[in-house]
Amino acid sequence: MRHIRPETSHDRVFALLGFGDKSAPFADARAGFEFGSRNEAAPTLPNGIKEKMNPKLSTRMGWATRLHAYLLWVAIGHPSVLWLYLTGSIRYLLIGLGIPSGAARHVAAVRKEFETYSAQGQFKERWFDGNIVPWSTTFRPIFDRSAPVQILEIGSWEGRSSLFLLTYFAKGRLTAVDTWSGGDEYEYNATADLQDLESRFDGNTASGIDRLTKRKGLSLQVLPQLLDEQQRFDVIYVDGSHFSDDVLMDAIVAWRLLNQGGVIIFDDVLSPFYTRARANTAWALKTFMKYHTGEFKLLSAGYQIILQKSVTFTDEVATEVGELAGFQYDEVRG
Ligand SMILES: C[S@@+](CC[C@H](N)C(=O)[O-])C[C@H]1O[C@@H](n2cnc3c(N)ncnc32)[C@H](O)[C@@H]1O
Repeated sequence: MRHIRPETSHDRVFALLGFGDKSAPFADARAGFEFGSRNEAAPTLPNGIKEKMNPKLSTRMGWATRLHAYLLWVAIGHPSVLWLYLTGSIRYLLIGLGIPSGAARHVAAVRKEFETYSAQGQFKERWFDGNIVPWSTTFRPIFDRSAPVQILEIGSWEGRSSLFLLTYFAKGRLTAVDTWSGGDEYEYNATADLQDLESRFDGNTASGIDRLTKRKGLSLQVLPQLLDEQQRFDVIYVDGSHFSDDVLMDAIVAWRLLNQGGVIIFDDVLSPFYTRARANTAWALKTFMKYHTGEFKLLSAGYQIILQKSVTFTDEVATEVGELAGFQYDEVRG
């Protein structure tokens, strides 16, 4: 397993912006923010807003109502979200029941392999397992399981989703980005689970150690490093911070890191973790999808949203600006 963290030009840019520099004006706010005791004392953000989380024990009904409200909200502007939510729910249910048999056999084989490996680990949480049917079904027509697929995961926790990705893509290589310090959501912060989180991740992913690279740190800092290193990925799973600013940043940089035809999965899209609507993942996703309209195919929508990138990213902004101003960018640079 490799641990790499060279300083890059992006580090310096982020340091200038105040991220990662303890003496910088935003550092205190972000410190409470990332590793957070959000429930006990909501930290003040750089914009002065005190971010509050919805209470842990809100009723199931209240949670479900908010969740579906977010679904409708995301679907405004992207009606196919609603359609895929309905058809996907039925499709995944049928596959779970064995229909059609080809897809069901595929999922069963993947699940069996995954369970063999995961039985050797020490997992405290199983919430990933609801994704086995949608992921296996979505990946099947796009990727050859034995191809050397490049995978990026933002948010690995104790490694259950990482182990699944390493199992599904038998020759895939996974880069796992995590602070291994937990997140804002009440399940993940300040619990005893955090004490041995990283060593549990190491143990749980040991079967794929030769194909795994850990990048410990905030996604805000690590993803630009990956760009600097000119790394590219075929599958990206975004499941780190669920605060909208972070998700939007992750989405924007991950989009650049994703190959054309590659697949990006966003988790917890409909979770109403935060009281303020715009602080939630749904807002970031809605904004991201609007901005990139026409550049992706929506593959699956529900609690997770899965997109396939249909364009190649070319960074032409500076040239365009130059042309608008009536000069050639090369002339200005030279
Ligand atoms: C929901 S858990 C990931 C669960 C995992 N993908 C799974 O399905 O088993 C979120 C993880 O993201 C990490 N995290 C939260 N904010 C982060 C950030 N800004 N940068 C990197 N990792 C972060 C936390 O440490 C935590 O391990």
